[in-house]
Amino acid sequence: MIRKTVCALALCFAASHAYAAKTCAYKIEGNDAMQYNLAQITVGSDCTDVEVTLTHSGKLPKQTMGHNWALAKTAEFQAVANAGLAAGLDKDYIPEGDKRVIAHTKVVGGGESASVKFPVSKLTKGGDYTFFCSFPGHYGAMKGKFIYQ
Ligand code: CO
Repeated sequence: MIRKTVCALALCFAASHAYAAKTCAYKIEGNDAMQYNLAQITVGSDCTDVEVTLTHSGKLPKQTMGHNWALAKTAEFQAVANAGLAAGLDKDYIPEGDKRVIAHTKVVGGGESASVKFPVSKLTKGGDYTFFCSFPGHYGAMKGKFIYQ
């Protein structure tokens, strides 16, 4: 906000350089007990991109205890997860082309990792977001608050 109000002549140049891209990276784990190790992820206002890396710390295969990390508005995440059921494992239990899905990783099994990176322009400050696993039956236990402030 400040950079817009001071954007004049040389100041504009300086301000645009001060606003460098910043990828804020977060790590989260899913385990064989159908749990994430984080209940909340908070993204700061200085981030321009968000990168989330999900690691499956268990041993079970993705066919029986698969996990992904998906992000949607809290008001929509259950509907997205339910729509993802029909999409199947081949589509990572994510409804194809669904605009309600802000970001998601693929489904991983024990010992595997997956990342997703997206710009904060897909978020609204102060919005109510939930991250969750869309593997069938998981979102009730595997979910958390995603805060962008
Ligand atoms: Co899961």
